[in-house]
Amino acid sequence: MLLLTWWTWYIWSHAAVTFIEAGYDIAILDNLSNSSKEVLKHIENITWKAPKFYEADIRDKDAIEKIFKENKIDGVIHFAGLKAVWESCDKPYEYYENNVVGSNNLFEIMEKYNCKDIIFSSSATVYDPNENPPFIENTPTWNTTNPYGTTKFIIENMLRDLANHRDFRVANLRYFNPVWAHESWLIWEDPNDIPNNLLPYIMKVASWELPELSIYWDDYDTIDGTGVRDYIHVVDLVEAHLDAWKYLENSGKKAVFESFNLWTGTWTSVKEMIAYTEEIIWHPLNHEIVERRSGDIASAYCSPIKAKEILWWKAKLTVKQAIKDSWNFIQTNIR
Ligand code: UD1
Repeated sequence: MLLLTWWTWYIWSHAAVTFIEAGYDIAILDNLSNSSKEVLKHIENITWKAPKFYEADIRDKDAIEKIFKENKIDGVIHFAGLKAVWESCDKPYEYYENNVVGSNNLFEIMEKYNCKDIIFSSSATVYDPNENPPFIENTPTWNTTNPYGTTKFIIENMLRDLANHRDFRVANLRYFNPVWAHESWLIWEDPNDIPNNLLPYIMKVASWELPELSIYWDDYDTIDGTGVRDYIHVVDLVEAHLDAWKYLENSGKKAVFESFNLWTGTWTSVKEMIAYTEEIIWHPLNHEIVERRSGDIASAYCSPIKAKEILWWKAKLTVKQAIKDSWNFIQTNIR
């Protein structure tokens, strides 16, 4: 059985569907701070299988141990962590405690129960921003620009230590901007609060739920001055987790630490995202230019070649498709 950890349902719910459909038994750990149990019904509706669910917090070591006592856990897909860059600048200690201390608890219990295979959800934010993109996996990592990124950097290094000294097998996946949702439209990104990330925010403005989008500055050294990112469809992203799991299982090695960039290899600016959205929604999207957001960087894109060569994985879906699907979903309002 595989254990999936996360605090919002967005990625774990998609990963749950992918792994169940591939025939794995899974258990899920979530403290429901930014999600609801309703998603479990949706996972069951899509897959015809109800995953085991533990409402627990990764900072609570006893709660993690209970899961390992009650189940034979063969591996962990570790998504758990707070993930808003600006919030991490505001509340660094919460980020260090949730992400770093929580991961430490998890790793300790994993070893206690002789479970040493793990896929870690890292971020391209670990790459040194003084290096020139596109980043490859051995581009230096360091000089993180915000506490969120620092926690990812620290956890990556903890896992490298555990591979070197405790025989952990680690697939370290670096991504950045997952967007949109499963084709069933039963699971999607639905933060309880106002969204921080670009596409969910754009959709709220497009549907008049929020008055306007703030563009966090337009004088970066990019194609049009706004931030440039590689937006990856979440369904493509979770497929790569399955490929990474198979890679670990078939590696035949005692210890592994291998990093992979999960990117589409294309990138889009904030203004381009707005233009694509306007083409689809048929009305202008209200926006204004505001100050830079604390912790933001100008552009981030990576080479996805290693994942293609070793995991045999390649992103198939485009950002335009993600915007179109998001808008169709909102309009049909099938929730
Ligand atoms: C951030 C993290 C990334 C992480 C991701 C998880 C950094 C630098 N980035 O990505 O590692 O995987 O969150 O969700 O650590 N924008 C606006 N207005 C908005 C929202 C966003 O202009 O209301 C802009 C941002 O400045 C940025 C782009 O849109 O240029 C994407 O922002 P966002 O969706 O929040 O993700 P990142 O900050 O890129």
